[in-house]
Formats: sequence, structure tokens, C-alpha cells
Amino acid sequence: MIYAALKSIGAYVPEKVLTNEDFEKFLDTSDEWITKRTGIKERHIAADDELTSDMGVEAAKIAIHRAGLKINDIDMIVCATISPDYLCMPSTACVIASKLGRTNVAAFDISAACTGFIYAMSIAKAFIESKAKKNVLIVGAEKLSAIVDYSDRSTCVLFGDGAGAAVISATNKKSDAIADVHISADGNYGDLLMTPGCGVKNPCSQHAIEEKLCTMKMKGNETFKIAVKTLTSDVTNILNDNDVQTKDIKHFIPHQANYRIIKAVGDALKMTSEQVVLTVSKYGNTSSASIPMAMNDIWESGRLKKGDTLLLDAFGGGLTWGSALLPFAGESRQ
Ligand code: UT7
Repeated sequence: MIYAALKSIGAYVPEKVLTNEDFEKFLDTSDEWITKRTGIKERHIAADDELTSDMGVEAAKIAIHRAGLKINDIDMIVCATISPDYLCMPSTACVIASKLGRTNVAAFDISAACTGFIYAMSIAKAFIESKAKKNVLIVGAEKLSAIVDYSDRSTCVLFGDGAGAAVISATNKKSDAIADVHISADGNYGDLLMTPGCGVKNPCSQHAIEEKLCTMKMKGNETFKIAVKTLTSDVTNILNDNDVQTKDIKHFIPHQANYRIIKAVGDALKMTSEQVVLTVSKYGNTSSASIPMAMNDIWESGRLKKGDTLLLDAFGGGLTWGSALLPFAGESRQ
């Protein structure tokens, strides 16, 4: 029997930092409001000439190195992003493959917003278990600063840039296997979180530009309530399906959108503060990159060890949501 295992994690965070105090200089907002309502203190912003693919490439190089592999060992690249280098083509995964020097490889993007990394993990698992692929690179990379309206205080303070990547490899060791991945969606709530313009419905035009239709719009409060409910029930389902209890989880890594959402879900599941991984204060919401960036943080700080049980949980535009239950099968940091 062939299983899929998480062999490594890597991340890239751009240099420039935008603090809450920086927003106070040009927006009707305050550090106090942002901190109290979201838990965010700062976020990183990519340089003008730094693309989503560039950040994905940096994260990918680290993940491939930590997996003990060479780029030519990678036989599929899946990139989850809502801020691709190009609207339609080439895919950011193809650009990443090219920048990594890998040709003749399966490479494609997926669009599942903040749940993208978990969707990518589910795809990698399926390809590996069906023996179609052996080493799949999954990337969550976002330059959200390029699709944020910096005059809309209800969204712009939330989002940041960054990338995370992981290598999922074939193994015959059941104890290393990704136990389960749940992915789901309800398109009836698509209007809660969307970029209305620059697709086929509202093509790029003077009107779309003037109305800022190509930037993210969110009905924050409604999204918040559904997020708490959905994340809690999704995690409960994956734990029950696999006969695992909350106390068996070493690290609960939720999507980092808002501290209050994470706290509400953590409390509902009776997670201790040691179990819940929090990076939202320093990175903000980096959509598909948020879970791998958080995972990389605990690996780099030495908290994430080989064999630790991980529970991942995400929610985002679509609406989409998903969770994953797995051991960390890579090497601990030396
Ligand atoms: O990653 C994908 C999933 N995303 C999420 O799950 C995000 C979900 N939503 C949220 O995190 C929260 O809803 C927000 C952080 C976006 C907003 O927090 P909230 O507690 O739901 O606030 P609200 O939207 O109900 O707004 C409360 C007040 C409003 O003023 P009034 O109408 O009460 O006078 C807003 O205009 O806060 C105002 N406000 C702000 N004030 C200062 C909104 N944004 C700001 C701001 N600074 N940046």
C-alpha cells in the first residue's frame, strides 16, 4: 500500500513590514481597533517587482531542500493562489516550475481562496495514493497587496503577502501517512467574499478600474459568523471520522484570518493555548499561504517535531472550507 506523507515545509516572508500605525497615517482607523477586532499588529508587503511566483519559488526551494530532494525529483507542482501572476495564463505553478528550472512536469493552479493549501494537499494525496506521482510540491503563495483596495478600511488592514510550500511524498509507512483531508464548498455564499471585476462577468474596463472592482470585497461580519460555525463543525467531523480526540492533537493550525475566529473555534473544541498555533499578529491574513507559513514558523522555532499530530483547518472565499489530519513525517529542526 502506498501512502502520502508530509515530508517538509518552507516559507518566504517579504521584507517590508506594514504596521497598524502605518495605516493610521492614511486611513480612518487605529491600532486599537485593528488589534481588538482582529489580533493583527503587522503584515508583510512584497516589493513592487516581487511577484507571487517569486515568493512561491523561495518557499519551494526551502521545502525541497528540507525534504532532501532535488528539483528534478518533483513530479507535480500545485499552486494555490487568488493573486496569480497572470489572470488566466500561464498559471503561477508553470511560472514557478520555470523559475525552479523544472520542465516536463505537471503544473497547475487551483482556486479555493484561503482553503487552497488544504485543497492542494488533498490533490497531492490522491495523486500519490493512486501511484500517479511520487513527490508533489504544493505551494500557497499570495501577493494580496496587489488586489487590496487601500481606501477600504474594512478589508485592507486584514491582508498581507507571503508564501508557504510543502513536499508530499509517497511512502509505505502507514504511521507517516496523511490520515484524512476534508474539502468542501457552498457557492451560494460567493458574494460574501469576492473580487467582482476583471473576470468574464465584469471584464477589465475603465468602469471596473474606477469602481475598483478588481480588488477584494468582503461582508466581514457575515463571513465571520459562518467561519466560526463551519470551522468548528468541520474539525469536529474530521476528528470523529478518524476516532481522534482533541487531546491527541499536538498542533492545531487554523487559517490565520482573525484572532477572534481562532479563539472561538479553539475554545469550542477545548484546545489549550499550547495546541493552537497563532501567527496572525505578525503576518495578517495571507489566504492560501497562511497555514504553511504558520506551520513553517513552528518548524523553525523547533516546536514542530517529527511524528507530531497536526490538525489543519481553513475557510475562505467561495465559500470553501477544509481540514486535514496528519503526522509531520519530515525531520525535526536540528
Ligand atoms: O480569510 C477568509 C475569511 N475571512 C474571514 O473569516 C474574515 C471574517 N471577518 C472578520 O474578521 C471581521 O468581520 C472584520 C475584522 C472584517 C470586521 O470586524 P467586525 O467586528 O465584524 O466589525 P464590523 O464589520 O461589524 O464593523 C464594526 C464597525 C463599523 O462601524 P459602525 O458601522 O459600527 O459605525 C465599521 O465601519 O467598525 C468599523 N470599521 C472600522 N473601524 C476602524 C471597519 N473597519 C474598520 C477599521 N478601523 N479598519
